[in-house]
Amino acid sequence: MNLMQKIWDAAKSDKKKIVLPEGNEERTIVAAEKINRLGLAHPILIGNKEEIINKGHALDVDLSQVEIIDPAESENLEKYITAFYELRKNKGITLEKAEKIVKDPLYFATMMVKLDDADGMVSGAVHTTGDLLRPGLQIIKTAPGVSVVSSFFIMEVPNSSYGEDGLLLFADCAVNPMPNEDQLAAIAIATAETAKRLCNMDPKVAMLSFSTKGSADHEVVDKVRNATKKANELRPDLDIDGELQLDASIVEKVANQKAPGSKVAGKANVLVFPDLQAGNIGYKLVQRFANAKAIGPVCQGFAKPINDLSRGCSSDDIIDVVALTAVQAQNIK
Ligand code: ACO
Repeated sequence: MNLMQKIWDAAKSDKKKIVLPEGNEERTIVAAEKINRLGLAHPILIGNKEEIINKGHALDVDLSQVEIIDPAESENLEKYITAFYELRKNKGITLEKAEKIVKDPLYFATMMVKLDDADGMVSGAVHTTGDLLRPGLQIIKTAPGVSVVSSFFIMEVPNSSYGEDGLLLFADCAVNPMPNEDQLAAIAIATAETAKRLCNMDPKVAMLSFSTKGSADHEVVDKVRNATKKANELRPDLDIDGELQLDASIVEKVANQKAPGSKVAGKANVLVFPDLQAGNIGYKLVQRFANAKAIGPVCQGFAKPINDLSRGCSSDDIIDVVALTAVQAQNIK
């Protein structure tokens, strides 16, 4: 059984409420009906009811069983405005500003998650990653004990023996433009935990660089080296090694030559990139050149799950990310 099938099955076993703030977007409408019909989650579309239902008709999609909430008509609007004001008043937010902000579907949906009216949120078919992350960072904030929100992609590379038969996690490809060494260590640890909990993998985490074990020297290599040391000090139970070049991370023969004795080199199934430019370019290279399926970006580290989509996503991509979000919500204690 492939990973997404397992995630679908897990999502169905304990249905969670997932709010979709881009409620009148066509791919989202198609996905919401299917998510509901398949029992993957209880989807909630945000937006003008009449508009959404009319769009559904035009798409030949029956939304009669899908919950739709219009922020302008919601009985919870006042509650969300007050709660948002309380959260952000020390950042200069007035009640008037709070009212304007919370009427925005993305903020409204984030407040639903914050106040437990939904278990998770998925957005990004229209909005940018930053548009989604900002309300998340301001309102949901990080989980206890987590210092930084980051993201990962599940990469499924066809006909490949790298990682776990072509299955690898790449991080961080979407959130932190220039992580410092503490943040890079936190990203490595969070992704190892995600690999275990969400993907049932035995994580072998490679901290990527253009140098392997001292083969080159530069301050950017020092960052990766120090992040590896910090991650190992914080979590000696995890297999995290670096700095490693990509080939030394995934190719056994190169690993034997360049990093003999490493528990990770040659066997890595989690790749941690040194910064966002490398991570974002890296996942897109593999996606395009190797025809890999790239699922994500999936966020990690939020106190409650909120996730992003690529603006080029299909309805099926939305369904997968909703299922993943639902399973993340199940893991929130
Ligand atoms: N983890 C935890 N908290 C954070 C993080 C983080 N990674 N980043 C910012 N914060 C906090 C700040 O401390 C701040 O908290 P406060 O307001 O309570 O004091 C709050 O979040 C907002 O921080 P800002 O610095 O004002 O937010 P900023 O404008 O820098 O935006 C963002 C943060 C959106 C994550 C920004 O770094 C960003 O745009 N990242 C890149 C996203 C992107 O464009 N990705 C593109 C690729 S997507 C793809 O291809 C799939």
